[in-house]
Amino acid sequence: MTPATDTSGTAGTPILSLEGIGKTYGAVRALSGVSFDVRAGETLAICGDNGAGKSTLIRIVSGAQTPSEGTIRLAGAPVTFASPADALSQGVATIYQDLALAPTMTIAQNVFLGSELTTRVMGVPLLAKRRMRREAAEHLSRLRLAVPDMNRHVSDLSGGQRQAVAIARALRWQARIVIMDEPTAALGVRETRLVLNLIKEIASQGITVILISHNMADVIEVAERAVILKGGRKVRDTALAGWTADDLSHVIMGHEAA
Ligand SMILES: Nc1ncnc2c1ncn2[C@@H]1O[C@H](COP(=O)(O)OP(=O)(O)O)[C@@H](O)[C@H]1O
Ligand SMILES: [Mg+2]
Repeated sequence: MTPATDTSGTAGTPILSLEGIGKTYGAVRALSGVSFDVRAGETLAICGDNGAGKSTLIRIVSGAQTPSEGTIRLAGAPVTFASPADALSQGVATIYQDLALAPTMTIAQNVFLGSELTTRVMGVPLLAKRRMRREAAEHLSRLRLAVPDMNRHVSDLSGGQRQAVAIARALRWQARIVIMDEPTAALGVRETRLVLNLIKEIASQGITVILISHNMADVIEVAERAVILKGGRKVRDTALAGWTADDLSHVIMGHEAA
């Protein structure tokens, strides 16, 4: 790598590098020798047909599974993730399609789910509810979304607003990399628009986004680059400038002339 002429201010070191990542499940080989770099602030799409290995790759980068082979580097340093919580503590947040929200709890409670802030009153630990409401509102305001009262239950929110709560939770952990698995799959047109805008907003704030999506129009709109998997291998790694959704579909389906 020759970072000398890099003008991005990140000295050329990718924020995330995968080197020769492979995964077998017993006799099934799900991934083979997958290598790519992601630059800080970049929005990268992982594309491929069903069974291509997208979910396996994401489970490895999110700490949900360990690779059978290969190395993951964060800002140049080799890392291992013992669990998704471990990956999160190292700045890699993954938002799965189910969002892992608790619908009967409030927005503020969801942003701090599993990592509640506490205070001590005369030696007794209490939940710092007001502070959590204030900080949850701050994280959500970073998303430039008119968000209702932090005491509202998540069950009252639209699909797009729920995505925003899940992203706010990642921001609360100061995530540098946010992985989103099919974030618009269950959404209508208006909510999809909201989520695409959320992705662009966090990307504009320097957060690296890795997007897994079957929707080529979404990918073309928000991603600068795509890594295309097929049969567990990387078959393309390309900047998307000038690409249409149809171009991308054709490559994924293998209609391109090799
Ligand atoms: N837990 C598992 N056990 C056995 N095989 C698996 C498991 N998870 C995925 N696979 C296999 O690995 C390959 C890649 O799957 P997956 O990563 O889910 O692809 P994608 O998300 O692109 O559809 C497929 O052949 C799939 O059947
Ligand atoms: Mg999958």
